[in-house]
Amino acid sequence: MDTVSFTKMEDGTKEEYTFLDPLYFQCREGIPEMLLALLKQMQGDRLGYQIDRYQHSLQTATRADRDGSDEETIVCALLHDIGDVLAPDNHSQAAAAILQPYISERNYWIIKHHGLFQGYYYFHHANKDRNARDRFKDHPHYQACVDFCHRWDQCSFDPNYDTMPLEHFEPMVRRVISEPWNHFD
Ligand SMILES: [Fe+2]
Ligand SMILES: [Fe+2]
Repeated sequence: MDTVSFTKMEDGTKEEYTFLDPLYFQCREGIPEMLLALLKQMQGDRLGYQIDRYQHSLQTATRADRDGSDEETIVCALLHDIGDVLAPDNHSQAAAAILQPYISERNYWIIKHHGLFQGYYYFHHANKDRNARDRFKDHPHYQACVDFCHRWDQCSFDPNYDTMPLEHFEPMVRRVISEPWNHFD
């Protein structure tokens, strides 16, 4: 079989879907490189900050690394803002959704909510509630998300910080973003 014969999904047979399944797996080839490319797209425009979002991402990951974090957490720190490229209005949720198959539920939750939690540091300057994150106060990952923002994210806009280069993190990205294991229900 080279191709299926159906033109409507409802007409496909079990044999055809068995044939298609491993071929679709090829879509996953190159995902680490595409995520790294997304990261690199954030180079250049600093959008008024002292460093661009690529350097911000590297700096966030560097701080996570120097705090002795596990590899998955370091990769999450590196990629937490990749949603910015395609979804600036819901970048936290977008990044979390992309990374979800490869990461723990805890890291998924942290990335998904980091934008709101980061708001603690500036929402009050925009007439918004800086404590909006408090509604998650009883969530088991609340403190981890607070710590992510405080220790790594909100402080990583520093042009004078000794940030590690992307080459340090690339092998980690390729190891973490390999086999999906945390599937959607
Ligand atoms: Fe962010
Ligand atoms: Fe960030």
